[in-house]
Amino acid sequence: MIKVIRTTDYAEMSRRGADLLAAQVLQKPNCVLGLATGSTPEGMYSLLVEKYQRGELDFSQVSSVNLDEYYGLSSDNDQSYRYFMNYHLFDHINIDKAKTHVPNGLAADADAECAAYDALVDELGGVDLQVLGIGNNGHIGFNEPDEVFTAATHVVELEESTIQANSRFFEDISQVPTKALTTGMRTIMQAKRVLLLAGASKKDIVDKALNGPITPQVPASLLQLHPNLTVIIAEN
Ligand code: GLP
Repeated sequence: MIKVIRTTDYAEMSRRGADLLAAQVLQKPNCVLGLATGSTPEGMYSLLVEKYQRGELDFSQVSSVNLDEYYGLSSDNDQSYRYFMNYHLFDHINIDKAKTHVPNGLAADADAECAAYDALVDELGGVDLQVLGIGNNGHIGFNEPDEVFTAATHVVELEESTIQANSRFFEDISQVPTKALTTGMRTIMQAKRVLLLAGASKKDIVDKALNGPITPQVPASLLQLHPNLTVIIAEN
């Protein structure tokens, strides 16, 4: 089932997203959250922090697995996704950091790190609620357009357009890593529920992903086959 929620703007999109995520934590206090980075979920994370500060949420038993990490960036690099998660969410709530997981961007053996990450997700029993943003080219996590869908966590070469899009967060485009470690389609598709957030600039790619052909050239199109997908779109 695909449920599309059209919201007026970014603030309402974030509020609806935060409400769904909060409901998941209340329903199953020891749930496994699949988390995403990027500018899209920032507003949702700050609303979750507010809910926590008001005493409405308890994250003490929650585990999290993030979708991806830049290859070559350490966790204390302010452009790493581990840093992003700490900064926007984990440092402000009572989640046990030992239960928060982000692929290690400095792993000497990246393939072994990917295999270990999949084993970890299995050990946790899979993801209860997977949060996703979407790239302009239809990527989810860092699953870039390709000839095939890749099931397992893997090392990916970032597309020029992705490097370009993400360079806005870096001082200089030359500093944007060219590779990343990303959860594959299996973890995403096996999540019990998926929540895709999309701002107004993503309307066309979301339309293509949800209504166009299912193709690895638009990785998010595979979500059409997910049994429990909620898409929250900001119209403006
Ligand atoms: C990044 C991340 C994705 C994110 C996407 C969109 O490359 N790997 O997880 O969804 O790009 O980012 P934004 O929300 O900033 O547009």
